[in-house]
Amino acid sequence: MTSKDDDHVVIFDTTLRDGEQSPGASMNLSEKLTVAHALAELGVDVIEAGFPIASPGDFEAVREIARQVRGPAIAGLARCNPADIDRAREALKEAERARIHVFLATSPIHREHKLRMSKEEVLLRTEEGVAHAKQYCDDIEFSAEDAARTEPEFLAEVVTRAIAAGATTINVPDTVGYAMPEQFGGLIRYLITNVPNSDRAIFSVHCHNDLGMAVANSLAAVQAGARQVECTINGIGERAGNCSLEEIVMALRTRKDYFDLTTGIDTTHLFPTSQLVSSVTGMAVQRNKAIVGSNAFAHEAGIHQHGVLMHQETYEIMKPEDVGVSSNQLVLGKHSGRHALQAWVKDNGYLLDDGRFQRVFEEFKVLADRKKEIYDADLHALVEGGLNNEDGPWTIETVQTSAGTGSIPTAAVCLRYLDDERRHQEAAHGDGPVEALYRAIERIVGVRAKLKRYQLRSVTRGKDAMGDVSIEVSIDDKTYHGHAASTDIIEASGKAFLNVVNRYLKTKTPQAEEAVPA
Ligand code: KIV
Ligand code: ZN
Repeated sequence: MTSKDDDHVVIFDTTLRDGEQSPGASMNLSEKLTVAHALAELGVDVIEAGFPIASPGDFEAVREIARQVRGPAIAGLARCNPADIDRAREALKEAERARIHVFLATSPIHREHKLRMSKEEVLLRTEEGVAHAKQYCDDIEFSAEDAARTEPEFLAEVVTRAIAAGATTINVPDTVGYAMPEQFGGLIRYLITNVPNSDRAIFSVHCHNDLGMAVANSLAAVQAGARQVECTINGIGERAGNCSLEEIVMALRTRKDYFDLTTGIDTTHLFPTSQLVSSVTGMAVQRNKAIVGSNAFAHEAGIHQHGVLMHQETYEIMKPEDVGVSSNQLVLGKHSGRHALQAWVKDNGYLLDDGRFQRVFEEFKVLADRKKEIYDADLHALVEGGLNNEDGPWTIETVQTSAGTGSIPTAAVCLRYLDDERRHQEAAHGDGPVEALYRAIERIVGVRAKLKRYQLRSVTRGKDAMGDVSIEVSIDDKTYHGHAASTDIIEASGKAFLNVVNRYLKTKTPQAEEAVPA
């Protein structure tokens, strides 16, 4: 068992559970499987695949990931009651290594207003829940929700009872992102010192980023003896998100001199995995995001550029290639064949079956006709755009728009539904060509959507660069993200919209009655 004296920090990824709870970040089954395979390639120790009782879709995703993904332990979340725990166990049955993750809130505010439980009841529920889960598997994690706002003495008592009942990992969440680094590190140190059986469990932390402290708090906890960090790719998660996986991993690696700790992460997969998650969730990565933002390794000031050319370490503490960034290299062209593309796909960690590869290859040929030079970023956009849209049911056949000063913008669109031979056509006008296009699509698919955000960005440089359209749309009061890329920005706009429509149609599954945790 990892103890505070060991130098391995367990990386527990919760992109598919807490990350998926970000507004609009919902993923369908095939997207979750793609992300889970990428996380296994990345080398995470634990994948939290979902909250099985929350919905049939969540259950199915945890079960499929447990069936198919090998390497990391697969965790399923459960509240501290037999029904939740039994459902998690059912979903995890076929995992190579399963972990049941049981949680119960412990802070006074949650005890009083949410649970309406006394301290004694919380202690009893903790024991019963952990013991119930322990019948099914050895690897049990217990989380004291809102631990950072819990009385430390009471928290120590809860943790002692959870370990006595069989918990092997004790997670200390800062559920509302309230803690400060020194204070949070102090709490972990206090628990490890004052819980009499603390040597029988790994201490873990799960920090939210409401005050921008999630990574700093997690690092302070690690210094105090925590040996598991819960985090998400790109830091996605409830509200302001969770501790960012790429930041925590690169901080430990880059400052090994300071922390003297290791993780099992293959850091060269960080950037591709970040791109993948951004693509399937439709949530763009902010340009100046540490480690994986598009500006993370860009030097603008002449003095910096000169310094880096003279000696990389003058202004760079990490090499772009260490995190899998390949600086816009020209990779393939019009004459590149199937083998070259296959090699690129493999090198970049994508798992495409034959059918998917064929579709990407056909799109690549079309792109190569439209665009002289094809860069790494173009290929990422192509493969991920394909992953986004190929599960349909709606796809675009043709789009035509007309717009100009003094004329009424109009759009005519032709869509296809699954493999149905029939074509569905509509035309509409609007304030601009994109609005006209979205109106025409709405008429065909019968969905009313409100566009909340529209962002267009160039994938690479040059007039023939692909345009990447990222949108946020509200349908039935729920937010969805969509994104797509093409050299034709109107086509990209249409595909991004259909990406949202398809996502909406697939996620219309019944949800659990109770609110899910942070
Ligand atoms: O933020 C939180 O407290 C959680 C727990 C379920 C770990 O997500
Ligand atoms: Zn959380």
